[in-house]
Amino acid sequence: MAHGHGADLSDEDRKAMMEQSINITRNLANIKYKVAVMSGKGGVGKSTVAVNLAQAFNAMGYKTAIYDVDIHGPNVPKMLGIEGESIGVKGNKLVPVETDDGMLVASMAFLIESNGSPIIWRGPQKTGAIKQLISDVAWGNVDVMIFDNPPGTGDEPLTVLQMIPNLDAAIMVTTPSSVSEEDVVKCVGMTRMLNIDRIGLVENMSYFECPNCDEKINLFGDSKGQDFAKAMDVDYLGDLPFRTQVSESADKYEVPIVKAKPDSKAAQEFMKIAKEIESKYFTKDE
Ligand SMILES: Nc1ncnc2c1ncn2[C@@H]1O[C@H](COP(=O)(O)OP(=O)(O)OP(=O)(O)O)[C@@H](O)[C@H]1O
Ligand SMILES: [Mg+2]
Repeated sequence: MAHGHGADLSDEDRKAMMEQSINITRNLANIKYKVAVMSGKGGVGKSTVAVNLAQAFNAMGYKTAIYDVDIHGPNVPKMLGIEGESIGVKGNKLVPVETDDGMLVASMAFLIESNGSPIIWRGPQKTGAIKQLISDVAWGNVDVMIFDNPPGTGDEPLTVLQMIPNLDAAIMVTTPSSVSEEDVVKCVGMTRMLNIDRIGLVENMSYFECPNCDEKINLFGDSKGQDFAKAMDVDYLGDLPFRTQVSESADKYEVPIVKAKPDSKAAQEFMKIAKEIESKYFTKDE
């Protein structure tokens, strides 16, 4: 059995699973809104969207956390310039790293040795590592938690979604290319299968705006995010152009554009999507 519900579990396994799920419920009990950023396809900008949205919510006054649950490519710490930090330990719990502007971050990157060699996991190790990462971090009070998910619709993102109780929204990131869209369709299907019905779509790298002449160039053909969202019956949250500023900020200066240049067009575009998410999905009473 792929997902651990087999009849061949020992009593001990069953007990461990139960303890883990109690831990998760306890650790995530004081998180008001939980938002997962995902996509069927790799490299479409999930982590970029995740860190900039988190930064936007932080600027809007929410106590914000990022859970980087991508165990193969945990990029969030680098994008936030906190790669060298190590996670704290208190009793048998992990304590998230805090950024200089008060965001809490947990990532597999803090738990593995950074000698540059790739981690090679076997199947059960992967889901085991994800489960452990989710069940061992003590968060305290958080208003908004953004999960940066691994790509795809395989065991890893599935494990993540299955483990998060009461997810408030799933944000799908796509590019206008049809291969990315096909993968998002699968991802939406997986998400619905888990009874998560608040799903929003962000079209990333919609077009490239020439910094010199303001001409708009469609990198992957015409933008069709709105129609695509409608066809899948999900909310359309908006598009983000490809801006060299965005990748430069993350790759070179290790700070999300929303934090580095909050007044820039690029930052405002992320802020706008954060506000869409707020108005559509943050609906709990105080
Ligand atoms: N709107 C954008 N403008 C410019 N560059 C972007 C934009 N979105 C993403 N990028 C760049 O594209 C690259 C891939 O982005 P990112 O790492 O966020 O993708 P991902 O979907 O998280 O990838 P993975 O599937 O590997 O986790 C990065 O170099 C990032 O800086
Ligand atoms: Mg990523």
